[in-house]
Amino acid sequence: MNDDETRGLSRGLTNYGDHDFSVYLRRSFASSMGYSQEMLKKPIVGIANTYSGFNNCHRHFPEMVEHVKRGILLGGGLPIEFPTISLGEVFLSPTSLKFRNLMAMDTEEMIRAQPMDAVVLMGGCDKTVPAQLMGAASADLPTVQLIGGPMMTSRHGEERLGACTDCRRFWGKYRATEIDKAEIDMVEGRLATTTGTCAVMGTASTMACISETLGMALPGTAAIPAVHADRLRAAEATGLAAARMILNPIRPSQVITEKSVENALRVLLAIGGSTNAIIHLTAVAGRLGIRISLDRLNALSDTTPVLVNLKPVGQNYMEDFFFGGGVGAVMRELKPLLHLDTLSVTGERLGDRLEQDPGYVDRRVIASAEAPLELEGGLVALFGNLAPRGAILKRSAADKILFEKEGRAVVFTSLEDLAARVDDPELNIAADDIMVLQNAGPRSASGMPEAGYLPIPKKLSSQGVKDMIRISDARMSGTAFGTIILHVAPEASIGGLLGLVRTGDRIRLSVAKKRIELLVDEAELDRRRAEWTSDIVPPEQRRGYDRLYAAEVLQADEGCDFAFLKPVGTVGDNS
Ligand code: FES
Repeated sequence: MNDDETRGLSRGLTNYGDHDFSVYLRRSFASSMGYSQEMLKKPIVGIANTYSGFNNCHRHFPEMVEHVKRGILLGGGLPIEFPTISLGEVFLSPTSLKFRNLMAMDTEEMIRAQPMDAVVLMGGCDKTVPAQLMGAASADLPTVQLIGGPMMTSRHGEERLGACTDCRRFWGKYRATEIDKAEIDMVEGRLATTTGTCAVMGTASTMACISETLGMALPGTAAIPAVHADRLRAAEATGLAAARMILNPIRPSQVITEKSVENALRVLLAIGGSTNAIIHLTAVAGRLGIRISLDRLNALSDTTPVLVNLKPVGQNYMEDFFFGGGVGAVMRELKPLLHLDTLSVTGERLGDRLEQDPGYVDRRVIASAEAPLELEGGLVALFGNLAPRGAILKRSAADKILFEKEGRAVVFTSLEDLAARVDDPELNIAADDIMVLQNAGPRSASGMPEAGYLPIPKKLSSQGVKDMIRISDARMSGTAFGTIILHVAPEASIGGLLGLVRTGDRIRLSVAKKRIELLVDEAELDRRRAEWTSDIVPPEQRRGYDRLYAAEVLQADEGCDFAFLKPVGTVGDNS
């Protein structure tokens, strides 16, 4: 048995009121799993394995975890795998975001409650990576994150297919009657043909790049395809790195700092990453009392070039990004803009990493800083009376013709209203109008789903209309595109001005001025305010997790975390 009571199996004993009995009982029960006494003396590296039959993106985790274990054994640790909640994006109702905080709590509490000296977090699908980072930041035990890696692409005729930008592209074609039922059925079977996360720069890939940039995943590991042998070698290296951290502990609070968070924002902007990542990074940073200001995001966005040519904004897929140089190549181009003294879980400073040989860089996928794809970053925060606490536009995925525009609002009061009327041939709507979706924010009944990508009404899409301004307090899938204004805060359901918009009102968007304004006079708004009622079912009329969520979830500008999970005294900093 390990004599050091701060390490291994002797950490954090179960309390029976008799210390020696607790040691004896735990040792006995651990022996029942077939471990030798020699193994039980070793320090322990826990492995949070998020394999689930409801998570296609993690299908390969049973194989990957064996390689993590090999790395831990190589480093002299005892690997012990444990399950946590897994969030398979398309299998959760009403939306996976609602359960991100539950997974973060599970991860944090299981790291803290079980005897481990370091931990490997195996994540991949959209919300799993931020949930694990949030939990790890709060638990603050030495941690290395192992990303699951992206899917490979597939083929349909002469076209290359990758979930999930192409899912939406083909669905759009089907809605516009450009392809028939037989073809959409065929595409359905070809969009996702391997394990791994979505093959484009969606939320999962963006969060993988953010984890590596923060320094929580090993250098060079974010983009390795899920099915490559390199991914298994990364798993072994991750296990080894975690075991080595037992002697030289580096905690998440040393890695996730104001500077590394700013580096992550730079990379997010340069890769044209997902809007969801703003919410997630805000939540992760918030766990350590680090505040992300949307004004600062705008300042960074104005000075960060877009370098990565990947769908949904560009042409390529994650496997091209991997072979083209990955996150390291992007960071080398951004080097003058980055804080180089940030620390990774390996103990290496970013500046030292970027001194190393860059290897081959495919300029068709990763542009140089001298010849960027765009001079300004992909995401921008908008403010104005419609979004006093901010809203987000992915300008790199939007039609620039719509950036300076005033239009008539066409309002949908809920997701149900949208579904019922959007394709009604009688719907009074024109291509110049601005579609508004209310009551889809974090506190709404729908729990802030990825519904901000409002479908173009069929009567317009069949006329060839591809983009319109769409505004909501919902989110958008990282794999979607369009002139879509999201995360409006405060949301409609808690009395935000978004909830007072009526069909026929005028709305003005100016991306240049970073403004979104409802052009209705104050007297009229006061009248509407007096009539307004919330759609929210109060927490006391709910039960279980739903009740906790309803009572505690914060607005998008605070990362939709729970108030009580943030460090004491930091809630409300963003308001
Ligand atoms: Fe898992 Fe897209 S469904 S990453």
